[in-house]
Amino acid sequence: MSKYYANGAVWGSATSGSESYEPLMRGDRVDVAIIGGGITGITAAFNLVKRGLKVAVIEAGKVGMGSTGSSTGNLYVPTGKFHTILSKHGQKTLDEVIRSRSSALEFIADRVAEFSINCSFHRVPWYYFATKEKDAREIDKERDAIKSSGMETIDNVPSGFPFPVKSVIKVENQAQFNPLQYVKKLAASIAGENCRIYENSRVTAVTDGDPCLVETHMGVITAGKVIHATHTPKGIYAVHAMMEVYREYAVAARLNVQLEPGIYWLNDENEKYSIRTYTNETGSYLIVLDDKHKTGHKEDTTTSFAKIGDYIKSVFNTEDIIYRWAAQNYSPADNLPYIGTSPLQKNTYIATGFEADGLVYGTAAAMIISDIITGRLNSSSAVYDPKRFTPAASAKKTLKENLDVITHLVNDYVIKEPAKLSSIMRGEGRIVEIKGKMAAASRDDSGNLQIVSAVCPHLGCQVHWNIAEKSWDCPCHGSRFAADGSFLEGPAFSDLEKFPQE
Ligand code: FES
Repeated sequence: MSKYYANGAVWGSATSGSESYEPLMRGDRVDVAIIGGGITGITAAFNLVKRGLKVAVIEAGKVGMGSTGSSTGNLYVPTGKFHTILSKHGQKTLDEVIRSRSSALEFIADRVAEFSINCSFHRVPWYYFATKEKDAREIDKERDAIKSSGMETIDNVPSGFPFPVKSVIKVENQAQFNPLQYVKKLAASIAGENCRIYENSRVTAVTDGDPCLVETHMGVITAGKVIHATHTPKGIYAVHAMMEVYREYAVAARLNVQLEPGIYWLNDENEKYSIRTYTNETGSYLIVLDDKHKTGHKEDTTTSFAKIGDYIKSVFNTEDIIYRWAAQNYSPADNLPYIGTSPLQKNTYIATGFEADGLVYGTAAAMIISDIITGRLNSSSAVYDPKRFTPAASAKKTLKENLDVITHLVNDYVIKEPAKLSSIMRGEGRIVEIKGKMAAASRDDSGNLQIVSAVCPHLGCQVHWNIAEKSWDCPCHGSRFAADGSFLEGPAFSDLEKFPQE
C-alpha cells in the first residue's frame, strides 16, 4: 500500500534542498506579526513589506508545508457555490466575490512572472459537471449564477471530454501550479531584515493589545498588529461556532491515460471528486480529492481512501497510488469566508472559512488584510467582514454546528462505554478509562501503546481516533493531535496532556 504523507509530498520532490529558516530563539519587535507561513501568511508578509512595514512570520513547521502543501494546486475563480451565494447574499456580494477571487488569481500569476518562479504555473480550463440526469440541475443553477455576473462559460460538451456528462460548465483561463514551490519562492523573495521568518516555532499564546504579544516556547514577538493566517484562528473565537470542519482525502496515482490538463470537478450526488493531472521530474500523476467528512465524526476514515482507489481504478485504469494525504476544510455558515478585523479585538486580524479553497481565498484574504492594515480602500472587505451578522444566511448551519458540539460533549462523556486497553489492536485508537479519567490510547504498528489525555485543550471536547491518519481529531472545532498527543493543527494552542502511567 502507498505511504500516507501528512502534507505536501506530491509537491515536495520539486523543492528538496530549498530555503529553510531558524526558529524564534529570542524576542523580536515588528509592526505586524503573522502566525502561519502558508500562502495567506506569506502573501500578507509580501504586501506589507513592499509597503514599508516590518513583519515577522511565525510558522509552526516549515513554510508552505501546512494546508498550502496539502492542497491540490488548483486556482479558479468559480467555486461551485456561486448560486448559493447569489440566493443568500445577492448579486452585489457575488460580484465582489468574483472580483476579489479574480484579483487573487492574477496576483499569483503576476508574482510567478515577476520572480520567474519555477512552479509549473499554467493556464487551464475549469470544468464543473454531472454525469447523471438528476444531478444536472445543480450544474445548471451554477451556470446561471456564473453568467449573472458576466463571466463567460462554454456550455457545450467539449470534444474529447473524458467523462460522460449530462451537464457541464467550462470556464477558460483558470490555472494550476505547484503551491509549495510558489510559496517558498515568494517567501525567499522577502526574507531579510524587514521580514524575519521563523520556522519550527509553534505559537503558544497570543495577546491582543497595544502592543500585541505572540509567544512561542523560545521567545516573544511584540507587534503592533497580529494576523492569524493559520487556516483557523488560534485560541477562542466566535467564528469557531460559525464553521463546520471537514477532512478531505487525496491521492496521487501514476497516470496511465491521456488527460488534457484541466480542473475537473465531478458533482454527482454520491460522487464528488476534484481531478487534475500533475507532471514533474518523477513522472505524471493523477491527483484526485474525494468529498469531505466532518473531522472527528467518521468511524472508519480508511474508507475515504478506498473509495478514491475504486473510482480511479474504474475510470482511469490505475491502481498505482504513490501518495495519500488529507487536508482540513473550514466551511462557513453563510458560505463566505471570515476575513478582516477580529470582532471584540483591537489589533488582531483573522482569515478563515475558505472551505476547500485556501489558495485563492488565502491570497484574497492576504490582499484584503494588507489593505486594511495600511489604510487602503478594498471594496471586497465588507463582504468578508468577520463582524457581519447574517442570520437568514447562516442560522440553520450555525444551529446545527452548535448542536453538534453539545451532542459530542454529552454523548462522548456521558453515554459511551470506554474500551479496554487489551482490546486495542495495532493501528487502532480507543477511548479508555484509567483511574476514573478518560484517556486516548492507541497502539502503533509495532504493538507499542501510547496513552494521552482524551480531553481537547481547546474547549474540552473528547478527541476521536482517525485510523487513516493515525491521529486524534476533535469533533468540535477540528484541532488534531498525533498519537503521542503532539499538536498538529487547529485552534488549540497546546498538545494533549501526557497521561500519567505509573
Ligand atoms: Fe475546540 Fe477541540 S477544537 S474543543
